[in-house]
Amino acid sequence: MTQPGNLRLGVNIDHVATVRNARGSAYPDPLRAAKLAEEAGADGITAHLREDRRHIGDADIEALMAGLSVPLNFEMAATNEMQKIALRHVPHAVCIVPEKREERTTEGGLEVAREENRLAHYIAPLREAGCRVSLFIAADIAQVEAAARIGAQVVELHTGAYCDLHAEGRFDERDAECDRLREMSAHAQSLGLEVHAGHGLTFDTVKPIAAFPEVMELNIGHFLIAESIFIGLPAAITEMRRLMDEARA
Ligand code: PXP
Repeated sequence: MTQPGNLRLGVNIDHVATVRNARGSAYPDPLRAAKLAEEAGADGITAHLREDRRHIGDADIEALMAGLSVPLNFEMAATNEMQKIALRHVPHAVCIVPEKREERTTEGGLEVAREENRLAHYIAPLREAGCRVSLFIAADIAQVEAAARIGAQVVELHTGAYCDLHAEGRFDERDAECDRLREMSAHAQSLGLEVHAGHGLTFDTVKPIAAFPEVMELNIGHFLIAESIFIGLPAAITEMRRLMDEARA
């Protein structure tokens, strides 16, 4: 679905699997949530297959690849195991994220600048196979420039720090982080990178980020799945979409 200003919404369905796995049941089914998200206007579906399979599992990726009508953005750590899985499925996009086993969620961005050589070799076969390669990075000039040098097509800017500062009421620091995100969006685009953003976004924090003209896609999960408890997934997605379009208009 093409949206005003070409800002796409990728809906991350990881936490549907979190609820399912909490009881080891067959429900709720992430593919069913993904299809509902599609109907409600999601432009893509995002899923993170973590090394410890704490939410999405291998069978979920198979089901999403077979059952989705919109593109799958497959989030993964830069490991050999994940590269093999991505090359087997060839999803529309792979987003390389840092992963630490003990973290609750993806903390911080990928260290591209210090791992330039390794990551350049890591992403080359993914690109050759036809995946769009995205790197999940902090709003940091060294990371943006390294991402461009190694041939990534996309950078996804980590909005987690901005959202945390908002939640903690540290508004001056939040605004400074928002400025950094804005500057790095423009810089990344000037280097030929497509710009995405995500992590921790809510109805309260989405608009300033959606307003950056360079940002082409937002990936949002935890808040939408949480909000769906109260208003349902289609209504949560519709409202997020409305706020994104309002910010863009
Ligand atoms: N983008 C990336 C790269 C992520 O790792 C995540 C979390 O899996 C998200 C976006 C979505 O973050 P949230 O679930 O906090 O909206």
